[in-house]
Formats: sequence, structure tokens, C-alpha cells
Amino acid sequence: MQPVEIKKNIWWVGAVDYDKRDFHGYSLSPEGTTYNAYLIKDKKNVLFDSVSKSFTSTMLCRLAQALPLEKVDYIVCNHLELDHAGALAELVARCKPEKVFCSQMGVKSMQGYFDCKDWPVQAVKNAESLHIGSRTIQFFETRMLHWPDSMVSYILEDKLLFSSDAFGQNISSSVRYADEVSEEHLLNAIEAYYYNIVLPFSPQVVSALKALGGLAVDMIAPDHGLIYRGKRSVDFILDTYARLADQKPRKRVLIMYDSMWHSTKKMAYAVASGLEAVGVPLRIMSLKDNHHSQVMTELSRCGAVLAGCPTHNNGLLPAMTAVLAYMKGLRPKNRVGGAFGSYGWSGEGPKIIHECLETMGMEMPVAYVKTQWSPGHESLGRCHELGKTVGQALIAKCDG
Ligand code: FEO
Repeated sequence: MQPVEIKKNIWWVGAVDYDKRDFHGYSLSPEGTTYNAYLIKDKKNVLFDSVSKSFTSTMLCRLAQALPLEKVDYIVCNHLELDHAGALAELVARCKPEKVFCSQMGVKSMQGYFDCKDWPVQAVKNAESLHIGSRTIQFFETRMLHWPDSMVSYILEDKLLFSSDAFGQNISSSVRYADEVSEEHLLNAIEAYYYNIVLPFSPQVVSALKALGGLAVDMIAPDHGLIYRGKRSVDFILDTYARLADQKPRKRVLIMYDSMWHSTKKMAYAVASGLEAVGVPLRIMSLKDNHHSQVMTELSRCGAVLAGCPTHNNGLLPAMTAVLAYMKGLRPKNRVGGAFGSYGWSGEGPKIIHECLETMGMEMPVAYVKTQWSPGHESLGRCHELGKTVGQALIAKCDG
């Protein structure tokens, strides 16, 4: 439980949660996650953020090795969600800080979560500066990136950005820097995080990147996962976020399906053959075997979604209903869509999917395909054509 010095007199004092699997309560985190907290030792000693409540003792132990707890002068809460503020009450009680800083919206979150009327809370304004000795902290609000209270803290003299949830990834590891893992591993983790947490706030990402463009940054330290140090690493994460926020269509298709007696599954594979015929790469994901957040992560690489489900009780199977609701909430843009499914007697399923994808703003170049009972040669041929048409529409969108 050693603190890690990331710049001179600036320490990582967070915790690694190797066991976490439901990040933020809804997104799969197969590797666990990290709750990053940071300490600056200066004329005023400043602690940035904390950890999930169950890791309070780990953080206190790590922090105490860098600085006696009672010497923490200020606590900065960039974000009050409880994976970063879970240890706050204990920290305030033990450190007795002179000030607890947060955004103006953060005061509301703090009052909602804690009995903080006796805490020395001070709200900071956007772009406000705080001098702590040899350093200057600048606070920048990043509202709805991803909560109303979210802000980031920039340390002017160190060119260091404490970025809160932005730029994070769910990598739990004994290493602290992004350049200590493979680029493929890092990128997969960034895409999973972005598409499950940040995607609906892409306009805010674009604004934040614009604002950051005016700052000299040579280290970005997020509240989850690994730290980006040096120009190459900082450029990598900024460029990756710009690309993910842009949602430019990519020539690859996600086929997601659920099935009861393999009829819709056969249709999914026939749809795939149509995509293969026009040379578009694809991935088939059964919703029985893939978590909704794995589906969203795959969507980060795909410009089209083909969804298939049998009709069940005049609607859809529960897994498809859940994935569509989850996807819709995350607001993907610039996609092509298509729907298919089998049925026994009423057959509403594919129409429901088609309409749902349409409400997400997807381009729907062809009618849905439905087939009664088990798909025969003719209906599998229609599925093949569905795949071809969607594939061709995606090619036109990507090349257009
Ligand atoms: Fe990782 Fe929004 O807290």
C-alpha cells in the first residue's frame, strides 16, 4: 500500500479494486477498476477525490504514508459519485481540512449524500484559480461529463490535469501508467468505458477537448485506471476521445440476436452471409452469452446494427428489450440499422425492433424480415438480402 509519486511532490493515493464487476452499478468491468485519488504536497497540502467506501482504510493507509492525515489542508471533490466520494466523510473527520472544494452543483450532491452542514465547504466557479504555494490549481466545470457536478482540476505549473471520470478506463493493475500496458489492451478498455459511460455526453467531450486545447498538458490523471504521461500518451487519449465523440461510421456490423428454438439464430447467420457477400466485416453476438455492456463496446467499432428477436407475448424477449433500452439511452449516432425475427402466431417482434432503431436516429434502408415458425430457403434468402442491403448502405455511408 505504497503511495506512488507521479510528479515531484504529487502522489497517487488511491486504491485498486480487482474484484469490481459491475462498474458504476451497470457496466461490466471484467478486469475490476481503480479509484484514483491524488495528493499534492505544497504550502497547502491538497487531496483530490477519494475512493469507494469499502476501500477507505486502504486509501487512508496509503495517504498516511505520504503525509500525516491531519496535515491535509484542502480536499477537492471533482465529482461526488460515491466511487470517488465514498471515503469523504471519514477523510473530513480524520483530516479536519480547512476547506472542502467542489463545483456549485457539487454542493447539492454533497448535501444529498452527506450530513455536511458543519463541513468547511466552498464552491468554486468555472476557471477559478487557487494558489497553494508554489502551485496554482485551476478548476474547470465539465457539467454532464458525466454528472452535473463534474469538474476537472488543472495544475498549471506541472501541466497536469486531474480529469475525474473523463479519460478513464477500467484497468486494475499494479502499474499506474498507460504506457505500461499494450496499446491494444488500453484501447479496448478506453472504448468499453467510453461507449458504456461517456457516449451520451459526446457533445460535452467535444467542448472539453476544445477548452483543453488551450492548456499545456503533459499528464492526464483520471479517477479510474491508468495515468497518461508524456506527449505521446496524452495525444493518444485526446485523439481517441475526439474519434469516439465524432462517431464517424465504421465499416463493420454488429448482429445481435436472441432466440428460443434457433429460428432467429438461423436468420442471424443468414443475415451475416449477406454482409459477407458485400465484403463487410461483422460480429454476431448472442444476447444469452454477451452482457449489454459488451454489446455496446462492440458497437464502438461498428457502423451498423442488425437486431433479431422472436416475438414473445406480443413483444420481445427480455434480453433484447433490455439491450435496446440500454443502447437507446447511450444515444449512438450515425448508424445504419435493420431488424429480423421469427414468430409463431402474432409476429410483432421485428417491427418493434425496427421502430426502436429508427427512434435512435438510425438509417433503416430496408423493411424488417419476419418468418413464421422455422425459416426455410425463401426466408433465409430474404435475411441474406437484408444483410446485403444494410451492408451496401453502410459502405455508401462510410465512403460518402
Ligand atoms: Fe466514477 Fe461518475 O464516478
